[in-house]
Amino acid sequence: KLPVSDSMLAIFGGFTVVFHLLKLAWKCWCGFRQFVWSELWHVDLRTYGQWAVVTGATSGIGKAYASELARRGLDVVLVSRSDDKLQIIAKEIEDQYGRKTRTIQVDFTDGQSIYPAIAEELQGLEIGILVNNVGMAYSDHFAYFLEIPDAEQKITQVVNCNMLSVPQMTRLVLPGMVERGTGLIINISSEAGVRPQPLLSLYSATKIFVTYFSQCLHAEYKSKGIIVQCVAPFMVSTNMTKNVSVNCFVKSSSTFASEALNTVGHSSYTSGCLSHALQATALAILLPDWFRMSPFFIRNQPFQAFSLTENYNSK
Ligand SMILES: NC(=O)c1ccc[n+]([C@@H]2O[C@H](COP(=O)([O-])OP(=O)(O)OC[C@H]3O[C@@H](n4cnc5c(N)ncnc54)[C@H](OP(=O)(O)O)[C@@H]3O)[C@@H](O)[C@H]2O)c1
Repeated sequence: KLPVSDSMLAIFGGFTVVFHLLKLAWKCWCGFRQFVWSELWHVDLRTYGQWAVVTGATSGIGKAYASELARRGLDVVLVSRSDDKLQIIAKEIEDQYGRKTRTIQVDFTDGQSIYPAIAEELQGLEIGILVNNVGMAYSDHFAYFLEIPDAEQKITQVVNCNMLSVPQMTRLVLPGMVERGTGLIINISSEAGVRPQPLLSLYSATKIFVTYFSQCLHAEYKSKGIIVQCVAPFMVSTNMTKNVSVNCFVKSSSTFASEALNTVGHSSYTSGCLSHALQATALAILLPDWFRMSPFFIRNQPFQAFSLTENYNSK
Protein backbone atom coordinates (compact mmCIF):
# COMPACT_ATOMS: atom_id res chain seq x y z
CA LYS A 1 0.00 0.00 0.00
CA LEU A 2 1.30 3.51 -0.93
CA PRO A 3 1.93 6.02 1.87
CA VAL A 4 -0.53 9.00 1.89
CA SER A 5 2.06 11.46 0.54
CA ASP A 6 2.77 9.15 -2.43
CA SER A 7 -0.95 8.69 -3.16
CA MET A 8 -1.42 12.48 -3.10
CA LEU A 9 1.49 12.83 -5.49
CA ALA A 10 0.03 10.18 -7.82
CA ILE A 11 -3.39 11.91 -7.80
CA PHE A 12 -1.75 15.29 -8.46
CA GLY A 13 0.32 13.77 -11.30
CA GLY A 14 -2.81 12.15 -12.78
CA PHE A 15 -4.70 15.47 -12.72
CA THR A 16 -1.75 17.26 -14.35
CA VAL A 17 -1.58 14.70 -17.18
CA VAL A 18 -5.34 14.86 -17.75
CA PHE A 19 -5.24 18.69 -17.68
CA HIS A 20 -2.50 18.81 -20.33
CA LEU A 21 -4.21 16.17 -22.49
CA LEU A 22 -7.46 18.16 -22.36
CA LYS A 23 -5.56 21.37 -23.22
CA LEU A 24 -3.90 19.65 -26.19
CA ALA A 25 -7.24 18.23 -27.36
CA TRP A 26 -8.82 21.72 -27.11
CA LYS A 27 -5.97 23.26 -29.14
CA CYS A 28 -6.31 20.54 -31.80
CA TRP A 29 -10.07 21.14 -31.99
CA CYS A 30 -9.55 24.93 -32.34
CA GLY A 31 -6.94 24.34 -35.08
CA PHE A 32 -9.24 21.88 -36.88
CA ARG A 33 -12.16 24.29 -36.69
CA GLN A 34 -10.07 27.27 -37.82
CA PHE A 35 -8.19 25.72 -40.71
CA VAL A 36 -10.03 22.55 -41.82
CA TRP A 37 -13.70 22.98 -40.96
CA SER A 38 -13.54 26.64 -42.11
CA GLU A 39 -12.68 25.44 -45.64
CA LEU A 40 -16.03 23.65 -45.76
CA TRP A 41 -18.21 26.09 -43.88
CA HIS A 42 -17.66 29.85 -44.37
CA VAL A 43 -19.59 32.75 -42.99
CA ASP A 44 -21.55 34.60 -45.69
CA LEU A 45 -19.64 37.90 -45.48
CA ARG A 46 -22.49 39.82 -47.20
CA THR A 47 -24.52 39.51 -44.00
CA TYR A 48 -22.28 42.14 -42.36
CA GLY A 49 -23.30 44.87 -44.82
CA GLN A 50 -22.98 46.03 -48.42
CA TRP A 51 -19.53 47.64 -48.37
CA ALA A 52 -16.05 46.58 -47.29
CA VAL A 53 -13.31 49.17 -46.70
CA VAL A 54 -9.71 48.04 -47.19
CA THR A 55 -6.68 50.20 -46.34
CA GLY A 56 -3.45 49.68 -48.27
CA ALA A 57 -5.51 48.10 -51.04
CA THR A 58 -3.26 48.62 -54.07
CA SER A 59 -0.86 45.75 -53.57
CA GLY A 60 -0.01 42.67 -51.53
CA ILE A 61 -2.31 41.44 -48.78
CA GLY A 62 -4.64 44.47 -48.97
CA LYS A 63 -5.23 44.08 -52.70
CA ALA A 64 -5.83 40.36 -52.19
CA TYR A 65 -8.39 41.01 -49.40
CA ALA A 66 -10.16 43.61 -51.57
CA SER A 67 -10.42 41.21 -54.53
CA GLU A 68 -11.51 38.28 -52.38
CA LEU A 69 -14.18 40.37 -50.64
CA ALA A 70 -15.51 41.48 -54.04
CA ARG A 71 -15.47 37.85 -55.23
CA ARG A 72 -17.58 36.99 -52.17
CA GLY A 73 -20.15 39.61 -53.12
CA LEU A 74 -19.20 42.88 -51.39
CA ASP A 75 -18.72 46.33 -52.88
CA VAL A 76 -15.31 47.68 -51.95
CA VAL A 77 -13.83 51.02 -50.90
CA LEU A 78 -10.12 50.99 -51.72
CA VAL A 79 -7.97 53.30 -49.58
CA SER A 80 -4.33 53.80 -50.53
CA ARG A 81 -1.76 56.42 -51.49
CA SER A 82 -1.30 56.14 -55.29
CA ASP A 83 -4.28 57.31 -57.33
CA ASP A 84 -3.15 55.63 -60.56
CA LYS A 85 -2.85 52.24 -58.84
CA LEU A 86 -6.21 52.76 -57.11
CA GLN A 87 -7.93 53.35 -60.45
CA ILE A 88 -6.35 50.22 -61.98
CA ILE A 89 -7.35 47.96 -59.07
CA ALA A 90 -10.85 49.45 -58.94
CA LYS A 91 -11.35 48.72 -62.63
CA GLU A 92 -9.94 45.19 -62.26
CA ILE A 93 -12.41 44.46 -59.44
CA GLU A 94 -15.38 45.95 -61.29
CA ASP A 95 -14.57 44.05 -64.51
CA GLN A 96 -13.78 40.75 -62.82
CA TYR A 97 -16.46 40.56 -60.11
CA GLY A 98 -19.08 43.09 -61.23
CA ARG A 99 -19.05 44.84 -57.86
CA LYS A 100 -19.09 48.60 -57.20
CA THR A 101 -15.90 50.26 -56.03
CA ARG A 102 -14.89 53.62 -54.60
CA THR A 103 -11.37 54.90 -54.13
CA ILE A 104 -9.90 57.19 -51.48
CA GLN A 105 -6.40 58.50 -52.03
CA VAL A 106 -4.58 59.31 -48.77
CA ASP A 107 -1.13 58.94 -47.31
CA PHE A 108 -1.43 57.36 -43.87
CA THR A 109 1.99 58.67 -42.84
CA ASP A 110 0.44 62.19 -42.80
CA GLY A 111 -1.17 61.48 -39.42
CA GLN A 112 -4.50 62.68 -38.08
CA SER A 113 -5.13 65.37 -40.73
CA ILE A 114 -6.40 62.81 -43.31
CA TYR A 115 -9.33 61.36 -41.35
CA PRO A 116 -11.95 64.11 -41.87
CA ALA A 117 -11.60 63.62 -45.66
CA ILE A 118 -11.94 59.82 -45.29
CA ALA A 119 -15.01 60.29 -43.06
CA GLU A 120 -16.62 62.47 -45.71
CA GLU A 121 -16.01 59.88 -48.45
CA LEU A 122 -17.46 57.07 -46.32
CA GLN A 123 -20.56 58.98 -45.33
CA GLY A 124 -23.84 57.26 -46.22
CA LEU A 125 -22.28 53.87 -47.04
CA GLU A 126 -23.44 50.74 -45.22
CA ILE A 127 -20.00 49.51 -44.16
CA GLY A 128 -20.10 45.91 -42.99
CA ILE A 129 -16.38 45.12 -43.07
CA LEU A 130 -13.23 47.13 -42.38
CA VAL A 131 -9.82 45.64 -43.14
CA ASN A 132 -7.10 47.65 -41.40
CA ASN A 133 -4.27 46.33 -43.53
CA VAL A 134 -2.04 49.30 -44.32
CA GLY A 135 1.44 48.94 -42.87
CA MET A 136 5.04 49.69 -43.69
CA ALA A 137 8.49 48.47 -42.76
CA TYR A 138 11.30 51.00 -42.38
CA SER A 139 14.31 49.12 -43.62
CA ASP A 140 14.94 46.35 -46.12
CA HIS A 141 17.05 44.43 -43.64
CA PHE A 142 17.08 43.55 -39.95
CA ALA A 143 18.70 46.46 -38.14
CA TYR A 144 19.53 47.82 -34.71
CA PHE A 145 17.23 50.68 -33.69
CA LEU A 146 19.94 53.33 -34.19
CA GLU A 147 20.49 52.07 -37.74
CA ILE A 148 16.97 53.00 -38.89
CA PRO A 149 17.55 55.14 -41.98
CA ASP A 150 16.27 58.71 -41.70
CA ALA A 151 15.03 57.87 -38.20
CA GLU A 152 13.59 61.26 -37.22
CA GLN A 153 10.96 61.12 -39.99
CA LYS A 154 10.61 57.34 -40.26
CA ILE A 155 9.58 56.85 -36.63
CA THR A 156 6.60 59.21 -37.00
CA GLN A 157 5.68 57.75 -40.40
CA VAL A 158 5.71 54.16 -39.14
CA VAL A 159 3.69 55.04 -36.03
CA ASN A 160 1.13 57.00 -38.10
CA CYS A 161 0.80 54.29 -40.74
CA ASN A 162 0.97 51.08 -38.69
CA MET A 163 -0.68 52.24 -35.45
CA LEU A 164 -2.68 55.48 -35.72
CA SER A 165 -4.56 54.30 -38.82
CA VAL A 166 -6.10 51.35 -36.95
CA PRO A 167 -8.07 53.12 -34.17
CA GLN A 168 -8.80 56.14 -36.41
CA MET A 169 -10.36 54.03 -39.20
CA THR A 170 -12.18 51.98 -36.55
CA ARG A 171 -13.62 55.16 -35.03
CA LEU A 172 -15.10 56.07 -38.41
CA VAL A 173 -16.91 52.80 -39.15
CA LEU A 174 -17.74 51.34 -35.73
CA PRO A 175 -20.70 53.63 -34.85
CA GLY A 176 -22.61 52.46 -37.97
CA MET A 177 -21.85 48.83 -37.16
CA VAL A 178 -23.04 49.22 -33.57
CA GLU A 179 -26.22 50.90 -34.79
CA ARG A 180 -26.94 47.99 -37.15
CA GLY A 181 -25.84 45.39 -34.57
CA THR A 182 -23.41 43.69 -36.93
CA GLY A 183 -19.95 44.24 -38.39
CA LEU A 184 -16.52 42.77 -38.92
CA ILE A 185 -13.19 44.51 -38.37
CA ILE A 186 -10.08 42.67 -39.51
CA ASN A 187 -6.77 44.07 -38.26
CA ILE A 188 -3.59 42.83 -39.93
CA SER A 189 -0.90 42.44 -37.28
CA SER A 190 2.12 40.18 -37.78
CA GLU A 191 3.93 37.25 -36.20
CA ALA A 192 6.50 39.96 -35.34
CA GLY A 193 3.74 41.43 -33.15
CA VAL A 194 3.00 38.20 -31.32
CA ARG A 195 6.40 38.00 -29.66
CA PRO A 196 8.99 40.79 -29.43
CA GLN A 197 11.24 40.81 -32.48
CA PRO A 198 14.68 42.35 -31.89
CA LEU A 199 16.21 44.04 -34.97
CA LEU A 200 12.66 44.92 -36.06
CA SER A 201 11.97 46.75 -32.79
CA LEU A 202 9.76 49.61 -33.98
CA TYR A 203 7.81 47.45 -36.46
CA SER A 204 7.34 44.72 -33.86
CA ALA A 205 6.10 47.25 -31.27
CA THR A 206 3.58 48.76 -33.70
CA LYS A 207 2.21 45.30 -34.42
CA ILE A 208 1.70 44.31 -30.77
CA PHE A 209 -0.33 47.54 -30.53
CA VAL A 210 -2.56 46.19 -33.33
CA THR A 211 -2.83 42.81 -31.61
CA TYR A 212 -3.82 44.22 -28.19
CA PHE A 213 -6.15 46.83 -29.67
CA SER A 214 -7.96 44.09 -31.63
CA GLN A 215 -8.31 41.74 -28.69
CA CYS A 216 -9.58 44.45 -26.34
CA LEU A 217 -12.02 45.82 -28.93
CA HIS A 218 -13.34 42.32 -29.65
CA ALA A 219 -14.00 41.81 -25.92
CA GLU A 220 -15.76 45.20 -25.70
CA TYR A 221 -18.00 44.86 -28.77
CA LYS A 222 -18.71 41.16 -29.38
CA SER A 223 -21.89 41.41 -27.27
CA LYS A 224 -23.06 44.12 -29.72
CA GLY A 225 -22.66 41.79 -32.71
CA ILE A 226 -19.25 43.08 -33.85
CA ILE A 227 -16.37 40.70 -34.55
CA VAL A 228 -12.85 42.13 -34.35
CA GLN A 229 -10.41 39.66 -35.80
CA CYS A 230 -6.64 39.99 -35.44
CA VAL A 231 -4.64 38.30 -38.21
CA ALA A 232 -0.95 37.68 -37.49
CA PRO A 233 0.75 36.26 -40.60
CA PHE A 234 4.25 34.94 -41.04
CA MET A 235 5.76 35.52 -44.48
CA VAL A 236 3.52 36.42 -47.43
CA SER A 237 5.00 37.15 -50.85
CA THR A 238 4.40 40.88 -51.43
CA ASN A 239 6.32 44.06 -52.22
CA MET A 240 7.13 44.36 -48.51
CA THR A 241 8.96 41.02 -48.65
CA LYS A 242 10.42 41.77 -52.11
CA ASN A 243 8.11 39.17 -53.64
CA VAL A 244 9.97 36.24 -52.11
CA SER A 245 9.19 32.94 -53.88
CA VAL A 246 6.06 31.16 -52.73
CA ASN A 247 6.63 27.77 -51.06
CA CYS A 248 5.16 25.72 -48.21
CA PHE A 249 6.25 28.38 -45.69
CA VAL A 250 5.58 31.51 -47.75
CA LYS A 251 2.02 32.14 -48.99
CA SER A 252 0.94 34.09 -52.05
CA SER A 253 -1.18 37.08 -51.04
CA SER A 254 -4.29 35.76 -52.82
CA THR A 255 -4.15 32.30 -51.20
CA PHE A 256 -3.44 33.91 -47.85
CA ALA A 257 -6.40 36.33 -48.05
CA SER A 258 -8.77 33.58 -49.14
CA GLU A 259 -7.71 31.20 -46.35
CA ALA A 260 -7.65 33.98 -43.74
CA LEU A 261 -11.17 35.12 -44.71
CA ASN A 262 -12.40 31.54 -44.26
CA THR A 263 -11.38 31.75 -40.58
CA VAL A 264 -13.85 34.60 -39.92
CA GLY A 265 -16.43 33.43 -37.42
CA HIS A 266 -14.18 30.54 -36.37
CA SER A 267 -11.52 32.56 -34.56
CA SER A 268 -10.98 36.17 -33.45
CA TYR A 269 -7.22 35.68 -33.40
CA THR A 270 -5.47 33.76 -36.16
CA SER A 271 -2.22 33.28 -38.04
CA GLY A 272 -4.47 33.27 -41.11
CA CYS A 273 -3.52 29.84 -42.47
CA LEU A 274 -2.42 26.43 -41.23
CA SER A 275 1.15 26.75 -42.51
CA HIS A 276 1.70 29.98 -40.56
CA ALA A 277 0.05 28.60 -37.41
CA LEU A 278 2.38 25.58 -37.51
CA GLN A 279 5.41 27.82 -38.07
CA ALA A 280 4.42 29.98 -35.09
CA THR A 281 4.09 26.91 -32.85
CA ALA A 282 7.37 25.42 -34.08
CA LEU A 283 9.24 28.70 -33.61
CA ALA A 284 7.95 29.11 -30.05
CA ILE A 285 9.23 25.60 -29.21
CA LEU A 286 12.54 25.68 -31.12
CA LEU A 287 13.49 29.29 -30.30
CA PRO A 288 12.19 30.13 -26.81
CA ASP A 289 12.16 33.84 -25.94
CA TRP A 290 14.95 33.57 -23.33
CA PHE A 291 17.27 32.43 -26.17
CA ARG A 292 15.85 34.58 -28.98
CA MET A 293 16.12 37.74 -26.88
CA SER A 294 19.66 37.05 -25.63
CA PRO A 295 22.48 39.35 -26.80
CA PHE A 296 24.29 36.21 -28.01
CA PHE A 297 21.47 35.22 -30.38
CA ILE A 298 20.89 38.78 -31.58
CA ARG A 299 24.59 39.22 -32.35
CA ASN A 300 24.89 35.89 -34.13
CA GLN A 301 21.42 35.16 -35.42
CA PRO A 302 21.21 34.07 -39.05
CA PHE A 303 18.50 36.65 -39.81
CA GLN A 304 20.83 39.56 -39.21
CA ALA A 305 22.85 38.82 -42.31
CA PHE A 306 19.65 38.29 -44.26
CA SER A 307 18.82 41.35 -46.29
CA LEU A 308 15.40 41.31 -47.92
CA THR A 309 16.79 43.10 -50.95
CA GLU A 310 19.79 40.85 -51.45
CA ASN A 311 18.29 37.46 -50.76
CA TYR A 312 14.80 37.58 -52.19
CA ASN A 313 14.00 37.04 -55.83
CA SER A 314 12.33 40.23 -56.94
CA LYS A 315 9.67 39.56 -59.55
N1 LIG B 1 4.06 40.47 -46.34
C1 LIG B 1 4.26 39.85 -45.20
O1 LIG B 1 4.99 38.86 -45.12
C2 LIG B 1 3.58 40.33 -43.96
C3 LIG B 1 3.71 39.56 -42.80
C4 LIG B 1 3.08 39.97 -41.65
C5 LIG B 1 2.31 41.12 -41.65
N2 LIG B 1 2.22 41.87 -42.78
C6 LIG B 1 1.38 43.08 -42.72
O2 LIG B 1 0.44 43.03 -43.77
C7 LIG B 1 0.10 44.35 -44.18
C8 LIG B 1 0.23 44.46 -45.69
O3 LIG B 1 1.57 44.18 -46.03
P1 LIG B 1 2.02 43.83 -47.50
O4 LIG B 1 3.14 42.87 -47.36
O5 LIG B 1 0.85 43.48 -48.32
O6 LIG B 1 2.64 45.22 -47.95
P2 LIG B 1 2.81 45.87 -49.39
O7 LIG B 1 2.85 44.83 -50.43
O8 LIG B 1 3.95 46.81 -49.26
O9 LIG B 1 1.46 46.70 -49.58
C9 LIG B 1 1.18 47.77 -48.72
C10 LIG B 1 -0.03 48.51 -49.22
O10 LIG B 1 -0.23 49.64 -48.39
C11 LIG B 1 -0.13 50.82 -49.18
N3 LIG B 1 0.57 51.82 -48.42
C12 LIG B 1 1.83 51.74 -47.93
N4 LIG B 1 2.13 52.86 -47.27
C13 LIG B 1 1.06 53.67 -47.37
C14 LIG B 1 0.77 54.96 -46.90
N5 LIG B 1 1.66 55.67 -46.23
N6 LIG B 1 -0.44 55.49 -47.17
C15 LIG B 1 -1.36 54.80 -47.87
N7 LIG B 1 -1.15 53.57 -48.33
C16 LIG B 1 0.05 53.00 -48.09
C17 LIG B 1 0.66 50.42 -50.40
O11 LIG B 1 0.41 51.34 -51.43
P3 LIG B 1 1.34 51.37 -52.75
O12 LIG B 1 0.74 50.35 -53.66
O13 LIG B 1 1.23 52.75 -53.24
O14 LIG B 1 2.72 50.99 -52.30
C18 LIG B 1 0.11 49.03 -50.63
O15 LIG B 1 -1.16 49.09 -51.22
C19 LIG B 1 1.01 45.28 -43.41
O16 LIG B 1 0.31 45.79 -42.30
C20 LIG B 1 2.14 44.37 -42.95
O17 LIG B 1 2.73 44.85 -41.76
C21 LIG B 1 2.83 41.50 -43.95
